[in-house]
Amino acid sequence: MSSVPHLTASQFTRKRITPSALIEKKARGVPISMLTGYDYPTALALDNAGVDGILVGDSLGMVVLGYENTLPVTMEEMLHHCRAVTRGARSALLIGDMPFMSYQVSKEEAVRNAGRFLQEAGMQAVKLEGGRERLETIRAIVAAGIPLMGHLGLMPQSINLLGGYHPQGRTALTAKRLFEEARLLQDSGCFALVLESVPARLAELISKRLTIPTIGIGAGGGCDGQILVTHDLLGLFDRFTPKFVRKYADLNSAMQTAFKEYIVDVGNRSFPSRENSVDMPDEEWESFLKDIRP
Ligand code: KIV
Repeated sequence: MSSVPHLTASQFTRKRITPSALIEKKARGVPISMLTGYDYPTALALDNAGVDGILVGDSLGMVVLGYENTLPVTMEEMLHHCRAVTRGARSALLIGDMPFMSYQVSKEEAVRNAGRFLQEAGMQAVKLEGGRERLETIRAIVAAGIPLMGHLGLMPQSINLLGGYHPQGRTALTAKRLFEEARLLQDSGCFALVLESVPARLAELISKRLTIPTIGIGAGGGCDGQILVTHDLLGLFDRFTPKFVRKYADLNSAMQTAFKEYIVDVGNRSFPSRENSVDMPDEEWESFLKDIRP
């Protein structure tokens, strides 16, 4: 245990959660908890808390890298953050989010990029957005032995096509399309399905008809599991907060308070104090002073 000092004791007692463990949880009616993570300390905390899955989401672009939306996020940025999460999490299922343009051009490129998440960044699964138009790609990735989580409803990589961050599936026609696509994704080999910003009763019906778990975000309590962007839950990202978020902390204010107190302490020289400073033995000090006297 001492050879891996950055992992806590409780992380050694839990086994790694697998995609099939999540399917079993659904079968037993046990809710699945997932959150996003993008760095080592947060991954440690999430894993220690016992979350089932950590998604290194491309929301990284907005909440960590400061981009306007998720479209600029690159494979290299995703892999860099996935590696940090892998170093901190030992039990949670680790899922890497495939960024815009890493899987849309060809299925060959999609398989290669999906493989990089496992081979170069220690992820156990990947996620991509899309329905009917992505079935061939999904089948190719799964055929390569890579567990895949689907994502339907509001798909942030398609905001230009969708005309903004609007809920999806609110008409009979779009609800039917979503319902059918959920089944198609399951039949194509997805082990789970994110449903983002869709009517609660539609998400509940889809969840009842599928054998793979649905993971809702803004999709009501009838899903088999839930996911939130961790920075939203912690109150760390204050550019906007979607209606479906529940804030469990206000770390942004906590940070502001801490930073301001630090600035005051530096200003009035109360920091650093003696306990924050390095001392040296008196005799060494005397000898040093003698030595430098002219
Ligand atoms: O990128 C992300 O964080 C996501 C979740 C919101 C599901 O896709």
